[in-house]
Amino acid sequence: MKKNFTVKTVVVFLLFLSIATAQQLPENPMAGRVVFEKQGCISCHSVYGSGGTTGPDFGKKIFSGDDFYLLSKMWNHSSKMFLVMAQTGTKRPSFTGQDVKELSDFLYFVRFLGQPGNISTGRHLFSTKGCARCHSVGRAVPGKVALDSMKIYVSPIHLAEVMWNHSTLMHERGIRKGIRLPSFSDNEFADLTAYIRGASSLKTEDKIYSYPGSPVRGEQLFKSKGCYYCHVEKPIGPTLDRMKADQSVTEIAGAMWNHSGKMASTMKKMGLKYPSFTGDEMADVISYLYFKNLPRAEGSAESGARLFKEKGCENCHVAGNKVDAPTIDKFAHFRNEDEFLAALWNHAPKMEEVLLAHGKKLPELMPNDVKSLYLFIDAKTKEGK
Ligand code: HEC
Ligand code: HEC
Ligand code: HEC
Ligand code: HEC
Repeated sequence: MKKNFTVKTVVVFLLFLSIATAQQLPENPMAGRVVFEKQGCISCHSVYGSGGTTGPDFGKKIFSGDDFYLLSKMWNHSSKMFLVMAQTGTKRPSFTGQDVKELSDFLYFVRFLGQPGNISTGRHLFSTKGCARCHSVGRAVPGKVALDSMKIYVSPIHLAEVMWNHSTLMHERGIRKGIRLPSFSDNEFADLTAYIRGASSLKTEDKIYSYPGSPVRGEQLFKSKGCYYCHVEKPIGPTLDRMKADQSVTEIAGAMWNHSGKMASTMKKMGLKYPSFTGDEMADVISYLYFKNLPRAEGSAESGARLFKEKGCENCHVAGNKVDAPTIDKFAHFRNEDEFLAALWNHAPKMEEVLLAHGKKLPELMPNDVKSLYLFIDAKTKEGK
């Protein structure tokens, strides 16, 4: 008896470890945009103003979390969603595991794209941040570096990238002129970009959009550019797992810029080469850091066993039930959490129907509850196989 328990605990623990350490970084977080449209989310929800207005705009109402968070949010709002869908004759979305993964990555990523910058805030920053002491834009000023050619770059990541690359020169010039280089927070990179583009004397309608970044490539760059050395291998810099929840792209770019001077001098002392970025590399690294910050649900198979009873799953999933619900030992073994989440979501309407007939509502499920239920069912279905 005791031995059996120990073996089980170890299995559950190992399982938990393998799930907890799996990074599952998305190759292309924008892939979920297609699912978002195909599944009709866009007819009720907007992303920064484009789309329907029945549900919240994901540019304003921030969704932050992993796939368990997404399922929990949708689940807890599903009664209202299903009601609006019935009223408007919209088809209820039904998911594959991959849909769930791509949707949650996309919705988390939406905030990364950031709010558009504000030109007048940018103009103000250009002088208060001291840029105007070394740079000109709109008309040439002798002795100052003109930034007019920046006009074609729409994304604030490009500004962050060139500034990062010139960081050493800027810091040297700053020391010589007795100017303290500014630090950045909030949406300031976006505001400055908006201002530089608006004020530029360059007569062109050409635009270059930075692509949003690949977290998978970003992780490789994080190693090859030496970030890993200071931030993971040697504890010289802080671990970047949880920098500050909910940072947008411009905030992360700001955090990187803010430490560029200190980083450059430390690297020089250590005889390391300053890492500069080309093309979309900065976007890749920042999107990687952004995904490392993803809030993740936590749970345990033990809590899952308790929740399976408490949340009423056992009302249907027992031997001899009248609704054709399989008992847990007959459940399919899910290859990954997203396939489980899709199965759970897809049977919400059926569950709701049965529950409503008994005067009950769908049980509320918090992200950690969903994770625990998954760990419980995963362990149960693995045992027999
Ligand atoms: C028929 C309209 C409709 C459709 C289609 C729809 N939703 Fe919703 N959704 C809503 C409404 C309305 C709410 C707000 C419910 C509330 O406030 O209780 C909501 C809320 C949400 C929330 C919670 C937001 C929060 O943070 O509070 C998420 C997440 C969500 N929907 C995701 C989706 C996804 C993903 C899809 C596509 C698969 C989708 N919705 C399709 C109407 C819809
Ligand atoms: C102390 C002087 C100084 C300050 C202050 C300064 N810079 Fe610079 N900046 C430079 C120097 C020097 C270069 C390198 C120019 C070169 O490569 O010839 C540079 C380069 C740049 C570039 C790259 C230009 C290009 O065409 O590649 C950008 C963009 C830029 N700075 C933006 C800013 C912004 C925005 C601010 C304010 C937040 C700022 N700089 C503040 C000195 C400064
Ligand atoms: C020479 C060591 C070193 C290297 C190389 C290095 N960093 Fe850092 N980093 C630090 C230190 C030290 C800090 C702490 C902030 C400070 O004191 O300025 C930091 C801070 C940061 C922060 C801000 C963290 C926060 O909580 O605000 C970010 C983001 C960051 N680094 C990203 C990077 C990236 C991306 C790279 C690779 C391109 C990199 N760093 C390379 C040493 C390093
Ligand atoms: C009202 C009855 C009812 C309740 C309550 C219920 N289920 Fe189900 N469940 C079903 C039925 C019926 C099926 C068979 C698939 C279908 O018809 O959608 C099913 C299928 C499933 C499946 C897919 C199994 C497979 O092999 O594909 C999972 C996972 C699942 N339920 C989990 C849960 C969880 C977790 C709860 C509690 C939060 C729960 N169910 C509550 C009726 C219910």
